[in-house]
Parts: sequence; structure tokens; C-alpha cells
Amino acid sequence: MVSKILEVLDVLKQNFNKFVSGEKISKIVGISRVGVYKIINKLISEGFEIKKQKKLGYKLVSYPFLPEEILRQNFNIIKKVYFYKKISSTMDLAKEIISQQKEYDKSLILALEQTEGKGRLQRKWFSPKGGLYFSLIIKPNIPPFEVFMLNFVFSLSVVETLKEYGVNANTKWPNDVLVDNKKICGILIETDTEIDKVNYCIVGVGVNVNIDNQFFKKHKLEATSIYALTNKKVDFTQFFIFLLKKVEYWYEIFEKKEYDKIVNEWKKYSSTIGKIVEIQTLEGKIIGKAIDVSSKGTLIIKTSSKQEIEILSGDCIHLR
Ligand code: BTN
Repeated sequence: MVSKILEVLDVLKQNFNKFVSGEKISKIVGISRVGVYKIINKLISEGFEIKKQKKLGYKLVSYPFLPEEILRQNFNIIKKVYFYKKISSTMDLAKEIISQQKEYDKSLILALEQTEGKGRLQRKWFSPKGGLYFSLIIKPNIPPFEVFMLNFVFSLSVVETLKEYGVNANTKWPNDVLVDNKKICGILIETDTEIDKVNYCIVGVGVNVNIDNQFFKKHKLEATSIYALTNKKVDFTQFFIFLLKKVEYWYEIFEKKEYDKIVNEWKKYSSTIGKIVEIQTLEGKIIGKAIDVSSKGTLIIKTSSKQEIEILSGDCIHLR
């Protein structure tokens, strides 16, 4: 029975977001149409979203993340997957895992919905169903100031993944991903460091995958999603695996400390360089033209008094 369920699922996955008739499924899998019907109902009760329509058959619209599929890829950066349909915040759970377990390195916490999603600078991160929300715990062997480079590793990976889905996104220094100035992904990095070493980093990533545009309008958010841009719902698991492959690729380069390679690639998508920006730093506000990003990831801006300033981190607003 289990193998028949998987076979039906395979047919639905191969026809993702398209109707496939009960008759066709029954022929491929070698079971009766009633058998197909029962399996479809079982899949629905397990969280698979399957549309049923007379004459057309069944259409798989979304399916729960299957942590096994992620583990099956044998990513070097992932040892354990924690999967939740709904959670307060993957960042909170990551901290809980760190406080309770010895082996927390390379743990991935993944959720389909967050009730208390956290953004940078104590902002709220709206996390309805349809978005991808995850935190990855890592222990990179680097001095604390190099953690900043992880912003580039993850935002570049997201931009490259979006490209594969027909979405041309830009990076905004230091860690946003935008499409037409609207946010499609946000990255939050929390660390525990000592003077010369990093105890752990939690990299939290939120990507607006299948969120309806109405949601952004209703909450007056300057944000967008793949679905809003392409009118197509994306297969979550496939998207996530693709993204993790990109992260794995760039993380390896990060481990080799080839930071210039990462930044140079990131710069190709930069929407910040060339803009007049306002940066809110701990020391105050700085306004100037963003002229470059260094291989350390710092932003170089030229002020109206022609002074060049290197900014390590801060909240960046594109003025024009
Ligand atoms: C930002 O302000 O741009 C950063 C947003 C980061 C959101 C992600 S979603 C997964 C993880 N869990 C959270 O609560 N926040 C991060």
C-alpha cells in the first residue's frame, strides 16, 4: 500500500499544478480508480493540497515539506532537519536547540508558517502560509567580523535560485533581496561570539514564494512573491532543495575564504551601488552615493563633501 501511495504521489508530482485524470493515474500505478480516490484522500489528510475536479481529475497544488527529501540530498551543511507546519519563529527554536543540545551544528529548522516571525532591527517578519521560513545553525571557523560575509552567501544564493524560476531579483546591501524595489526575501543573522571566535551563527531566511499579492496589499507591505510576479505556484520542496544547493556551493567558497569571489558575483545583482543612500549606523545617519562594496562586504560611500567612507554595517535606505 505504501509503495502505491508513493507511486500516486510521483504521478501527481510529475504533473505538478496540472490536472491528471483518475483513469490515467490508475493505469500508471496499476490500481482501480476507487483505489486512486482513497489514496488521494489519504494524501489530503496528510497535508497535501490536491484539487479535485470532475472530468479533469486531480491536481497537486502544494505538498508539505518532506524533510527526508532534504536529507536524501546529503548536503554538507545539513545534518538534521526540524520541520514544523506552524511555529512562533524558527530563530527561537534554533536558540532552544542550541541551549538544549550538544550537537546543534548544521541543524536546519524549517516552517511553513510563523506566528512571530522576526525581522532585522526588532521588526516583524510577516510569515503567512506560502512563504519559506528557515534557520540554519552553523559554526564557521572564522573571526567574528567575517560573519558579515554570510549575508552575501545567502542573498546571492537566493537571487540565483529566483533566476531559475524566471524572477530577476537584485541584492540590496547588506542582506536584502528585492524585485522592483519590493522585498522578496529577508535575511537575519544572529551570532554568539567571543573576541576571536564564533560560537555559533543562526542564519534565518524568509522567502516569499507562493504568497498571494492580496496579502501584501492588505498589510500595506512593499513586498512581492514569486507567485505574485509569475502567477505560478512553485513546488516548495524543489525550490528549497535548489536554494540549498546554491547555499552549499557559495558556503564552500566562503569556507575557503574566497570572499572577493562571492562579493564580485553579488555585485552583479546589486541595486545599491550607484544609488544615493542613507545609512543608519550606531553612530548616526550617513548620506552619500554608494560607490562600491569591498571584498570584506563593507559599503563604500562618497559624501557630498567628496569624502569616502567605509561602512561596516547598518540599515540602508535607497534614496534615489
Ligand atoms: C529582515 O528583516 O529582512 C530579515 C527577515 C528574516 C526572516 C526570517 S524567516 C525565518 C527566520 N525566522 C524568523 O523569525 N526570522 C527569519
